[in-house]
Amino acid sequence: MFDPAVFAARRDAYMQAIGPAGVAVVRSLPERLRNGDAMHPFRQHSDVLYLTGFVEPDTTLILRPGAETERVVMFVRPRDPELEVWDGKRAGLEGAKERYGADAAYPAVELGGKLAELIANTEELHYAVGLDDAMDAMVMHAIARLRKLEKKGRRPPRAIVDPRAHLHELRLKKRPEELHALRKAAAITAEAHTAAMRLGKPGAFEHELEAVINYTFRKAGGSGPGYATIVGAGENATILHYIENRCAIADGDLVLVDAGCEYDHYTADITRTWPANGRFSAPQKKVYDLVLATQKSAVALAKPGATIDELHQHCVRALTEGMLSLGLLTGSLEDRITDLSYKKFFMHGTSHWLGLDVHDVGAYTVGGKARPLEPGMVLTVEPGLYIAADATDVPPEYRGIGVRIEDDVAITADGNEVLTAACPKELEELEAICRAQV
Ligand code: GLY
Ligand code: MN
Ligand code: MN
Repeated sequence: MFDPAVFAARRDAYMQAIGPAGVAVVRSLPERLRNGDAMHPFRQHSDVLYLTGFVEPDTTLILRPGAETERVVMFVRPRDPELEVWDGKRAGLEGAKERYGADAAYPAVELGGKLAELIANTEELHYAVGLDDAMDAMVMHAIARLRKLEKKGRRPPRAIVDPRAHLHELRLKKRPEELHALRKAAAITAEAHTAAMRLGKPGAFEHELEAVINYTFRKAGGSGPGYATIVGAGENATILHYIENRCAIADGDLVLVDAGCEYDHYTADITRTWPANGRFSAPQKKVYDLVLATQKSAVALAKPGATIDELHQHCVRALTEGMLSLGLLTGSLEDRITDLSYKKFFMHGTSHWLGLDVHDVGAYTVGGKARPLEPGMVLTVEPGLYIAADATDVPPEYRGIGVRIEDDVAITADGNEVLTAACPKELEELEAICRAQV
């Protein structure tokens, strides 16, 4: 939890960006039923978190930069002693004002009745259409109502602007307190991956590794995984979003773990791949060496002025060259890059932004061109090679091998800081950890 002044400064920056003629409506996503009457654990929408730090469901923040009073308005669940016995304490209207910086706070159920008035006579409504049908309907209703009141001097906004225009640009450049949270998330995640390497001997189950990873996250004070933990042994490592995590690890398997701890709402995102029995086989070593060399050289390219597209093109070239020398592809390097045949083995991008969301917000292009990296941006670098077990047109020794290596990188004024540097990835280091007795 950051100092309230941090959130006030973020709201000020956002209000400055949208200008006095704009209004922003930022809202929680609905709570979701899991099964029967059991709910999924609620996780606040990252835009609400960024601007308020408020974690309760059914929260709406309205920012009115041009208003004389009530510039920061919150609709929240009111105190309710009876319900709080079941579901825990609420900040209530007083808490929203005293602790979360609202100028005015109203009960969540009054949003529909007050929304039109709060957005009236503005030019632009900054609101994320399409995430929540019920909220969209409420916003449309407010606009329709204002249209009818135009003759009485209550105009609806002329345009709806997506939060990507301003809010997500602010979220893209991380401030020191955000980098601090990401460093902490990365440190806990490195510890969890190392614990999994120690535990993941042949005979152990993928779910045991998931358990030790998620235990390490919670034990260290993280809120848990920032996305579903992936533990894939053997050919499961070639399935990109394998989250069943239910198979036994066999002697000779590589194990691919993609897991990230969420700490103070910021998530790390690390992938490591290692040999369960403590020795890479010769073909596994060739694939691993190729991905590691590619990943390290791509990390070195991540500095101000470079683009994610350049990092990706670098990985495509290096990996395709490797695929040709391993015999996974044939022909010329330029032809295989041009006809995209490398995508059979490297089918995902190299990087994404990282922050409150694992695939964090922020535009990847500006004016139709790849966006130059700037200090404060945080991204992953995660090349991989995935050779399906049934790929009959490749040398048999490579079938069923999947390797990805993923680090989290913060761009600095003169290069980068690898936030996840504490997580081992050198081949000998991995072998030593995997061989160690637990
Ligand atoms: N863990 C999700 C990703 O690497 O993009
Ligand atoms: Mn990632
Ligand atoms: Mn990942």
